[in-house]
Amino acid sequence: MLGNWLNFWRVRKNKSDSDMVRELYKLLDTDRLPRHVAIIMDGNGRWATRRGLPRAMGHRAGVESLREIVRTCSSLGIQYLTVYAFSTENWKRPAEEVSILMDLLVEYLKNELHELNQNNVRIKAIGRIEELPQKAREELDSSAERTQTNKGLTLNLALNYGGRNEITEAVRKIALEVASGALKPEGIDEHVIDMHLYTSGIPDPDLLIRPSGELRISNFLLWQAAYAEFWYSPVLWPDFRKVHLLEAIVDYQRRQRRFGGLKPK
Ligand code: FPP
Repeated sequence: MLGNWLNFWRVRKNKSDSDMVRELYKLLDTDRLPRHVAIIMDGNGRWATRRGLPRAMGHRAGVESLREIVRTCSSLGIQYLTVYAFSTENWKRPAEEVSILMDLLVEYLKNELHELNQNNVRIKAIGRIEELPQKAREELDSSAERTQTNKGLTLNLALNYGGRNEITEAVRKIALEVASGALKPEGIDEHVIDMHLYTSGIPDPDLLIRPSGELRISNFLLWQAAYAEFWYSPVLWPDFRKVHLLEAIVDYQRRQRRFGGLKPK
């Protein structure tokens, strides 16, 4: 895979990240960017543990990566970035860690709002937002409202999000429409299901990135990622930088997407 080749190239030529970024910009085709990039921001805990730090420090360092990746997506002209920030399963973590993550979310939104607006970034949240702590909900509502007219990158924060839960809720809403007579069972198609997901109106992700060496989808965008190109990296999220995003995009651009069809002749 090209991703592996690029890593090899970096090690062999002993290039710095900034040299690599320059090389990668030369390889990048700006006319064929993924419209929607989705990222499972994984590895914060391991990053901290390896340094003898509390896990919270890993999450804080992860916010720096998020900042850099949002800036990069925005300046490249990518239309949608969805990041998995808190899953429906993450409530199983100690209450203190959950609370730190919620505080970081509030801090991120407060600190970034000005720059996000300057860069024309729109904030949205997907997931069971109504179950988040009040201060997180309020900050999300206010950030979404204050960025709603921005036409650049849409930053989708997946919070208290689970793909199975999203599909279950969509099925429930569709069943209610059928029960009320507003929809016929034979009228249910993929488009109807799409329209009942949190991501309604947003194109499916083209590129799904998972750092930290794990090769799982972990209940993320289960329906929407049906044909996403998967890119993984051993780099832990707090170390994930522009150079890694560019590697992923250049690799994506070298692939042939067939969506179940045949290679064009
Ligand atoms: C997974 O790493 C990461 C999370 C559960 C949280 C992701 C959150 C951030 C990057 C920062 C806060 C987000 C916002 C939107 C401000 P892990 O803790 O499971 O890592 P591990 O697998 O190494 O333990």
